[in-house]
Amino acid sequence: MTDTARDFLIAPSILSADFARLGEEVDDVLASGADIVHFDVMDNHYVPNLTIGPLVCEALRKHGVTAPIDVHLMVRPVDRLIGDFIEAGASYITFHPEASDHIDRSLQLIRDGGCRSGLVFNPATPLAYLDHVMDKVDMVLLMSVNPGFGGQKFLPGTLDKLREARRRIDASGYDIRLEIDGGVKVENIAEIARAGADTFVAGSAVFKGRNAADPHRYDGVIGEFREQLAGVR
Ligand code: DX5
Ligand code: ZN
Repeated sequence: MTDTARDFLIAPSILSADFARLGEEVDDVLASGADIVHFDVMDNHYVPNLTIGPLVCEALRKHGVTAPIDVHLMVRPVDRLIGDFIEAGASYITFHPEASDHIDRSLQLIRDGGCRSGLVFNPATPLAYLDHVMDKVDMVLLMSVNPGFGGQKFLPGTLDKLREARRRIDASGYDIRLEIDGGVKVENIAEIARAGADTFVAGSAVFKGRNAADPHRYDGVIGEFREQLAGVR
């Protein structure tokens, strides 16, 4: 694997996992080569769906998961849950700026708790929210679908937005990851990477892609992602 290929991180979204066997599913995707666990938190208020909270994050840590857990908060308000997820063992905590009354404070709360912080941009949310907080984010997450559900189609307008986000990050000089979330597939991951993303959330593509011969292995689909990424740059 080249250095460049190693720097591309694959983050399966457990939203598409079998929740009745969640610990095992997370072990299986990590053993199959995934880098990060993407953990979608939905509150039936900020988004029209209800998923999992800090108890489940803590349970994964107690189960023995040591990989980074990338908590994507789709909740309003955000601040109290930030504290709960810090306690629960989150590695990254990202939130939608529209959902916080005090964006700078929320970012600071995350870093003060020893986690990496990030802002999430819906398809229609302007990157201008980054203007005054570039020094306080470790991750910029662009939604390539409207948040709330897995299995939606990648919105192609996100590619231009990725290029713009990449420009901003490079110009800032800070070490900030650029993550993409929604509709990432083997067929489009290379184009998404060329537009500037370095961290790839994939829910349905990964969990529907289990190996036919061994239902505990996802290395077929994860290997195909890596192959596509190896051809980039
Ligand atoms: C959508 C979530 C995503 C979702 C991605 O609101 O933030 O993480 O699970 O799922 P796919 O890869 O199926 O689009
Ligand atoms: Zn997500």
